[in-house]
Amino acid sequence: MIAVVGCGRVGLPLALCLAARGHRVLGVDTDARIRDAVRGGRLPFPDRFAAPLLDETLGRTFDITGDLGRAAVECQTFIIALGTPLDSSLLPEQSALREVVARILGGTLGQGPTPPFIAVRSTLVPGGTNGLIRMARRRWDAVPGKDFLIAYCPERSLEGASHELLELPQIVGAEDERSREAARRVFGPLGVELVFTGILEAELGKLFNNAHRYVNFALSNEFLMIAMNLGASGHEAIRVANEGYPRGGIPSCGYAAGPCLSKDGFFLTQSLPTPELLLTAWRLNESLPLYFVEQVEKVRPISSPVVLGLAFKADSDDPRNSLGLKLMGLLRMRGLDPVAHDPLVAVPGSTSDLPGALRGAREVFVAVPHKEYRALTWDELGRLAAPGAVIADPWLVWGQGRPVFQLGPQEETRRS
Ligand SMILES: NC(=O)c1ccc[n+]([C@@H]2O[C@H](COP(=O)([O-])OP(=O)(O)OC[C@H]3O[C@@H](n4cnc5c(N)ncnc54)[C@H](O)[C@@H]3O)[C@@H](O)[C@H]2O)c1
Repeated sequence: MIAVVGCGRVGLPLALCLAARGHRVLGVDTDARIRDAVRGGRLPFPDRFAAPLLDETLGRTFDITGDLGRAAVECQTFIIALGTPLDSSLLPEQSALREVVARILGGTLGQGPTPPFIAVRSTLVPGGTNGLIRMARRRWDAVPGKDFLIAYCPERSLEGASHELLELPQIVGAEDERSREAARRVFGPLGVELVFTGILEAELGKLFNNAHRYVNFALSNEFLMIAMNLGASGHEAIRVANEGYPRGGIPSCGYAAGPCLSKDGFFLTQSLPTPELLLTAWRLNESLPLYFVEQVEKVRPISSPVVLGLAFKADSDDPRNSLGLKLMGLLRMRGLDPVAHDPLVAVPGSTSDLPGALRGAREVFVAVPHKEYRALTWDELGRLAAPGAVIADPWLVWGQGRPVFQLGPQEETRRS
C-alpha cells in the first residue's frame, strides 16, 4: 500500500489518481478539516478532474488518516507531498518534511521484507533530497538503494488541473536501479512517460520549469510597462509580435504570483551568490501592483478603491502569494479602506457580492481575471461603478484595449 503524506492540492489528487489506477492508497494529513471533507466525499478545494475519483475510490482503494504511525505499519511506499513555503528569512521551510521522513524511516527501516521506498514530491531546494539521505545515514547508518529506496519525483501539473497527472511526463530522479524500479511500480499505472535522471537534476529540472515561466512573465510585464509609458498598447504589441511568427511565443502579461511561481526561483537562488535574473524577475512581477496603483494616482488621487480577485490566479480559491492581497496592502498603506471581492476566497472584510462591491467604486483594480468578472458586461460595470471610475486591469477583462482607463463621459481623458 502507498501512503501519500500531505493531502493538499498536490498530494490528494495524486493519491486519488493512483487509487483509481489500481494502487491501494492511504492518504495522511494532520489537518482534520481535510480529513473530514474527504471522508464526507468532498474535495477541500476545487479540482474537477479529481472530484469524481474521490467518489470512485473512497472506501475501496483509498482511505485517509491523520496517523502517520498507522501508515508506517501498513505501507512500504511513501510519497511526501508536504508544503515547502519560504519562511520569514526567505529560506525554504523543510523542517516538517525532514521530521516526517525521519518518522517514516524510524518506523520502517529493517521492518518489512523489502526496504521502504520514499518518493519526494514536494518542491525542494537543489540538494534537499540528498539532505534527507545524509540524515538517514547519520541517524541510522542506513544506505540508500539497500536499506531504503528514494527518488525525487516532482509535481509539474497546474494547480486545479490534475488531469495533467495522466498526461505530463513524470521526472524521476534516482541514483540506483532499485529506487528507479520502485518509482516505475508507483507511477507506471498512470500511463505517462517516465523520464529518469539523477536526483539533483530532477530537483533542478522542476525548479527550472517554474523559474523559466516566471522570468518570461516578468519580461512580458516589463514589455507592458514600457508600452504603457509610451502610451501604446502592450497587449497589442505582444499580439503582433506573436502573430504567425515561429519564434514568438511571448506570454501574455498580468500579475504572476502563487505558491510555486514566485517561490521556486528563490529556491534556485540558494545555490548561486549572484542570481541576478531570477531576483530581477521577482522584483518586476512583485512590483506590478505598485505600478498600477501609481498609474491610477496619475489620473487622480485614489479615494474609494475596489480590488477584484484575491486568489493568486483566475477561478482558483487559493490566496497564497496573491498579488490581489498585495494590492490591498498597498492601498491600506496609503490610508485607504479598499473593498475586496472574490467569488471563492474570503478574508476578513471581503465580499462575494460583486454588484455590492462595485457599487459606487471610484477605482477598480482587477487582480485576477475570474470568469465572473469577464461575465460582467461593460454596461453593467458602467451602471455600478461611479461615473468616471478609473479601471486598472492588466488582463483587459472588459476588452477595452487599455490597462488603465476611465469609465463614462471622461473616458477619453486619459490613455495610459
Ligand atoms: N500547489 C501546486 O500547484 C504545486 C505544484 C507543484 C508543486 N507543488 C509543491 O508541492 C508541495 C505541496 O504543495 P501543496 O500546494 O499541496 O501544499 P499544501 O499546503 O496545500 O498541502 C500540504 C498538506 O500537508 C499537510 N501536512 C502538513 N504537515 C503534515 C504532517 N506532518 N503530516 C501530514 N500532513 C501534513 C497539510 O495539512 C496540507 O494539507 C510543495 O512543496 C509545493 O511547492 C505545488
